[in-house]
Amino acid sequence: MKFFIDTANLSEIREAYDLGVLDGVTTNPSLMAKEGITGDENVKAHYKAICDIVDDKVSAEVIATDYEGMIREGKELAKIDDKIVVKIPMIRDGVKALKYFKSEGIRTNCTLIFSSGQALLAAKAGASYVSPFIGRLDDISYDGLELIGQIVHIYGNYGYETEVLAASIRHTMHLIKCAEIGADVATCPLKVITGLLKHPLTDSGLAQFLADHAKAAGK
Ligand code: E4P
Repeated sequence: MKFFIDTANLSEIREAYDLGVLDGVTTNPSLMAKEGITGDENVKAHYKAICDIVDDKVSAEVIATDYEGMIREGKELAKIDDKIVVKIPMIRDGVKALKYFKSEGIRTNCTLIFSSGQALLAAKAGASYVSPFIGRLDDISYDGLELIGQIVHIYGNYGYETEVLAASIRHTMHLIKCAEIGADVATCPLKVITGLLKHPLTDSGLAQFLADHAKAAGK
């Protein structure tokens, strides 16, 4: 499974990349706003800064919600760097835009997916990735992980090349369950990725090994 980090924070992206397990980055307008990035040129410069840190696959979201606007913005975003994946919302004009970008060889991530029907539509339109939002479904008492399973199953039935990018991940169990279910990618906050490191038996085991070594060495 590929690991993406879900943030626009450069130091968090660097930290995840330095760990050696990062395959990409997802951002959204809220995450960009959280970093105080506003204005077209600043936004583009920030995406470029992210692309300079990682090897590939930086999702950059369009703001327009009409077809022409999404095409115009998506093309501008794609020009920033070959690593950019244009993020398109799951709306009627978005589906048309996915089809257009597919024909142009520009990778896309269809975001705000909350049903398997939406995921099917995005795959048929040629999206490179679909982003089902697990946490936001769980928040309203729907089973986000069940949706991941449904989409993985449907895509498997027909051999769709669209990758299932599990998003809105809130904790390590979401991530582990996504791996069990067979999501292609999970995008997570840094704390979820580093959370995988933790186990009390690792900590106590290492402490014991080091203490035994020091004792044997007569320290
Ligand atoms: C995915 O691309 C989104 O940026 C993200 O995962 C949304 O997560 P949230 O529900 O925690 O805002």
